[in-house]
Amino acid sequence: MIQRLTLRTPDDWHLHLRDGAMLRAVLPHSAAHFARAIIMPNLVPPVVTSADATAYRARILAARPEGSDFTPLMTLYLTEETDADDVAAAHASGLITAVKLYPAGATTNSASGVADFTRVRGVLERMAEIGLPLCVHGEVTDPAVDIFDREAVFIDRVLEPLRTRVPDLRVVMEHITTARAADYVRSVPAGLAATITTHHLVINRNHILAGGIKPHYYCLPVAKREEHRLALRAAATSGDARFFLGTDSAPHTDPAKLQACGCAGCFTAPNTMPILAQVFEDEGALDRLEAFTSLNGPAFYGLPPNDTQLTLERGTPDIPAQIDTEDGPVTVFDPGYPLHWRVT
Ligand code: DOR
Ligand code: ZN
Repeated sequence: MIQRLTLRTPDDWHLHLRDGAMLRAVLPHSAAHFARAIIMPNLVPPVVTSADATAYRARILAARPEGSDFTPLMTLYLTEETDADDVAAAHASGLITAVKLYPAGATTNSASGVADFTRVRGVLERMAEIGLPLCVHGEVTDPAVDIFDREAVFIDRVLEPLRTRVPDLRVVMEHITTARAADYVRSVPAGLAATITTHHLVINRNHILAGGIKPHYYCLPVAKREEHRLALRAAATSGDARFFLGTDSAPHTDPAKLQACGCAGCFTAPNTMPILAQVFEDEGALDRLEAFTSLNGPAFYGLPPNDTQLTLERGTPDIPAQIDTEDGPVTVFDPGYPLHWRVT
């Protein structure tokens, strides 16, 4: 039985760090295990322009723990007013690594997202020209579409037409939750990849709803049936370079989660690596964990993998149930079983 596992330091290709007191409280948990992360721009107000991203990046760097060289890879929030020249300049200067598409109203703080896709065509074409990837929250917002079908319908109604119109655009389908999305990604030879979260490898929709509602398991896209969780585990542990880790660690305070209309998001930054080691071990794929956490993402983004290492050893990790922030407590995602890998 393997007792220690050394990987190139992982990166997180989809992370919510928030701002202010929350940023200061959650950032150390990502910086402890990850060298870089794609930073989601869904602040209030969102990070829309290169000036917004410059200022947000400075706040993140200022919130890093002493001695940390964690690198935030910034994104811009695509709106119908986004200026293609501003995006191109932000890319050319190295400020941004991707642009984020939220369909208007799809999730937390997505009100400024895109409703009319014809209005962002120029920006997308420019991004294709300069090789700047688009990170996509792949759910339709049509209230007539069942929430459990919104990802699959997005592929047919939005993503496939968009990729046909702008074929050279590099796209990351984020936090995929269905076998359909995994199959779609596999059906495209190049230029399309997907991130998979920690929590979608662990929970299905029964975990949220059976035996009482569990607000801490509510996230978007919402977890689907067991067959989809198994398909995601197969994709993540396959070694296929088109799948890589994006935790979507999304902290909300307990009062914001535990109310009549609770926020979507699972806070997984502190225990993602112990959970993933266990998932990959259970799937007989520990030798493919490094590809998922540390190699496939940089390869898609055209970045070198990290030259530092992270070591896990067998043992019970010391992970708090909650962390305290000046805004209130934030509950750490509970996989529902004891963990037996810890980061050294
Ligand atoms: O569960 C989620 N939480 N999904 C998202 O798309 C947004 C995120 C957040 O910002 O809280
Ligand atoms: Zn997210």
